[in-house]
Amino acid sequence: MQAKRPAGDGVVTGHATVDGRPIGVFAQDPSALGGSLGEIHAAKIVAVLRQAGRARMPVVGLLDSGGARIQEGLAALDGYGAIFRANVQLSGRVPQLSLILGACAGGAVYSPALTDIIIMLRENAHMFLTGPQVVKAVTFEDVSPSDLGGSEIHTRHSGVAHLVASTPAEAMDLARRVLSYLPDSCWDEIPMGIPAPPGTMPRLPDSPRVPYDVRQVIAGIVDSDSFLELQSRFARNLVVGFARIEGRPVGVVANQPLALAGVLDISASEKGARFVRLCDAFGLPLVTLVDTPGFLPGTKQETNGVIRKGAKLLYAFSEATVPRLTVVLRKAFGGAYIVMNSKSLGADAVFCWPRAQMAVMGAEGAVDIVYRRELRDDPGVRPDLVAGYEREVMAPHLPAERLSVDEVIEPEQTRPVLAATLRTLARSVRPRFRHDNLPQ
Ligand code: HXC
Repeated sequence: MQAKRPAGDGVVTGHATVDGRPIGVFAQDPSALGGSLGEIHAAKIVAVLRQAGRARMPVVGLLDSGGARIQEGLAALDGYGAIFRANVQLSGRVPQLSLILGACAGGAVYSPALTDIIIMLRENAHMFLTGPQVVKAVTFEDVSPSDLGGSEIHTRHSGVAHLVASTPAEAMDLARRVLSYLPDSCWDEIPMGIPAPPGTMPRLPDSPRVPYDVRQVIAGIVDSDSFLELQSRFARNLVVGFARIEGRPVGVVANQPLALAGVLDISASEKGARFVRLCDAFGLPLVTLVDTPGFLPGTKQETNGVIRKGAKLLYAFSEATVPRLTVVLRKAFGGAYIVMNSKSLGADAVFCWPRAQMAVMGAEGAVDIVYRRELRDDPGVRPDLVAGYEREVMAPHLPAERLSVDEVIEPEQTRPVLAATLRTLARSVRPRFRHDNLPQ
């Protein structure tokens, strides 16, 4: 069954420069046995990964492969084993990017899953562990490649793809952009960009119940056009992405009141946790913007493991050694207040806006529990009790007095205060290699 090996065994490997910085690169050729991975093909990729480790430079993979070359049997499977191991040995040490430019199956999706960022073409790119034919044979399910693993699935539902591009050229531009925020390796400094002024800071709605788009707040803080959102359609209740403040790259993590009122749930926790670990691995300071009513309650979340999955975000923030700043914009209730990079989890500085509310829970719910007896006797006292709770338990000067918040700041002060704090904290000493970037 041995097929004739195509010239170069279906993959081009080498090194190149992006904006003058060295990278290792490999590109699979779909016209050579479907880009499938044979023994020599694998050995060439492993060699690039090893070289990137020695030279401490990022690796960019251009993937278009049907996975392990069936005709080569175990030699192909072992080839993937060696690639997976090499991916993991580089994890957290040098940035690894995967561009999905065609139909990718089997090992051709598991290797990207071990890398830091996946960029996928909107049309004509697919990612699945087993293709539609195998699915049909095993489960009798008739499914199209797009419904099984098209960009709609991986940007909106699975969260596998971080970014989506219309053309291969756009995918490469996005890769260049991602690399512009990251150091060559965890032992190098983060690359400073050219500072730019921020956008206009929006005014938040008067009512705490009215949603707004937190991306407008991000735009009012960071250098204009510097925000690159990742996984923007997946777990939309948490926004994550790279940005710059006065040219310095940062990772932004923000609750999004526009989606599910900004609650934290399993998907948001996993999305946030992996991003926080990525930033910590490569030395990007974290800017966390908080406006969340808490964790999403319910049987679905509990049954699906919100305890162990929500714990990932808690863990990621707690272990992070990069400079960590938090701004409480509005609501910070319950466990979500703690999880979102609170002072007690080790944030270097926490600021809040004048109308921020921090408490175990919102006033309405709190009053119903604490004053149950009083309300039974006289339901008319409810508005007074709510107002009293808001005044006595939720006012922003209270957390400031107990050092949970360093300073109450006006929205317009946010950028200068964060920038000054980042400048100071840039001097802080931290370990260079921190940890790998475990898939969540
Ligand atoms: C050898 C392969 C191949 C493979 C595709 N080809 N996959 N040859 N080994 N794994 C060849 C086809 O025979 C065909 O050759 C050419 O590539 C193009 O394939 P098409 O099927 O015509 O393309 P398309 O319709 O786009 O479908 C792409 C595909 C499908 C969905 C990827 O080819 C497919 O399902 N392939 C098998 C996927 C798979 O199960 N791989 C093994 C996974 S195991 P001709 O000569 O006709 O042009 C694995 C181990 C890792 O990877 C385990 C992870 C833990």
